[in-house]
Amino acid sequence: MAQQRKKLFIKTYGCQMNVYDSERMRDVLAPLGYEPSDRPDDADLVILNTCHIREKAAEKVYSELGRLRPHKEAKAGTGDPMTIAVAGCVAQAEGEEIMRRAPVVDLVVGPQTYHKLPELIAQTHRARGERLETEFEPVAKFDALAGDRAVDGYTAFLTVQEGCDKFCTFCVVPYTRGAEWSRPVDQIVAEARMLASKGVREITLLGQNVNAFHGAPPAGHEADGPWGLGRLLRHLSLIGGLDRIRYTTSHPNDMDDELIAAHGDLECLMPYLHLPVQSGSDKILHAMNRKHTFESYVRVIEKVRAARPDIAISGDFIVGFPGETEADFEATLQGVKAINYASAFSFKYSRRPGTPGASMPMQVDEVVASERLARLQAVLEEQQGEFNRSQIGKRLPVLFEKAGRLPGQLHGRSPYLQSVHCEGPSGLIGQIAEVTITDASRNSLTGLLDAKVDAA
Ligand code: 5AD
Ligand code: SF4
Repeated sequence: MAQQRKKLFIKTYGCQMNVYDSERMRDVLAPLGYEPSDRPDDADLVILNTCHIREKAAEKVYSELGRLRPHKEAKAGTGDPMTIAVAGCVAQAEGEEIMRRAPVVDLVVGPQTYHKLPELIAQTHRARGERLETEFEPVAKFDALAGDRAVDGYTAFLTVQEGCDKFCTFCVVPYTRGAEWSRPVDQIVAEARMLASKGVREITLLGQNVNAFHGAPPAGHEADGPWGLGRLLRHLSLIGGLDRIRYTTSHPNDMDDELIAAHGDLECLMPYLHLPVQSGSDKILHAMNRKHTFESYVRVIEKVRAARPDIAISGDFIVGFPGETEADFEATLQGVKAINYASAFSFKYSRRPGTPGASMPMQVDEVVASERLARLQAVLEEQQGEFNRSQIGKRLPVLFEKAGRLPGQLHGRSPYLQSVHCEGPSGLIGQIAEVTITDASRNSLTGLLDAKVDAA
């Protein structure tokens, strides 16, 4: 019997892992007749897939729930009720509080229990009661979600690892995503093959601590013991049709020699590495429980650059961590100058309840932190602009992902993850073609398609 069609609206906050999880939720709900919709107002099911990393991200969820309330009330009058579910890391961290603060929510579901969504929604419908489902069960999650998946475009995320055991003192991830856990290699390979067979040319392997990956080896390789990320990349590089592989996000202490060597050996491993350092001051790194010094971070970068000299380095920074003095901040600025980043993300420290940092003495004044953030971002933006300008005159292979904003224009990505705009035929979408870079801004490159390319 054909399923009755229902409208599903998912709003995703935060990291790429949430983007991936939202897609999987869409996949598990499709057999129940839920079709994606881009409007929340008349949706039958609204899912907010939330982020808890900084306070601002978490508070956005409550504002959105406030906006949803009138829509839910309007629909209730029609006898065709709207179900509102809060998923993701706010759900994990604040499950019961969400129900208390926002009675409009029907269902709270943590990151490890999305495979149970169909069952939970059925129960909600039956009882319109409150359900909390926020256990840590990553094995069950991936077993249940491993099947076929809908593919949209030529690039895709693939989660290989979840959770984190590092316990940096500012970070909620070990509490919201749980202990570090890796998917078995065979399961990852099956998903990567399926993506390639559906036309995906580039995959980005995801994990909160992706280079801590230690997945069960594939059948026939049991004697190897767990495989690290370097070996996994080597294995995935053999899959036909997958021209590009990326991975994110990494911890400096987990950049082992096999992974670094992969950057030199594998043509399909793109020359871009996101390697957060957070601070240039060893005193602050220690207080953050990062378990590395700035010097050891520099040594890792040097090794990676020796393996792949053109690699683009990206990072994350936090300013205003408790105890950060002007001298500590100056060390961060000096560190940034020493590394020379191609891109970076920088944040003001946000006190997260339950993390050790929240109760540390010497919290930094908000105004001081804002001023430091502005100074740091000025340097990082200058470096990003400089890196982009250094591509002018070069020929770069660009994977075209979609039409550009202007007619006749295409949008794609360089190997270094830069946005590239150029004129070209729409037939090139999904293809990799050589582009000569003619101009650069802080955020993107412009170029001319190589005349030799046959776009037919
Ligand atoms: N405050 C500010 N930034 C944070 N990050 C993680 N937790 C916090 C916090 N409490 C940043 C880190 C991390 C990135 C994903 O978010 O830089 O690498
Ligand atoms: Fe958070 Fe990353 Fe530290 Fe893990 S390694 S606790 S995810 S910042």
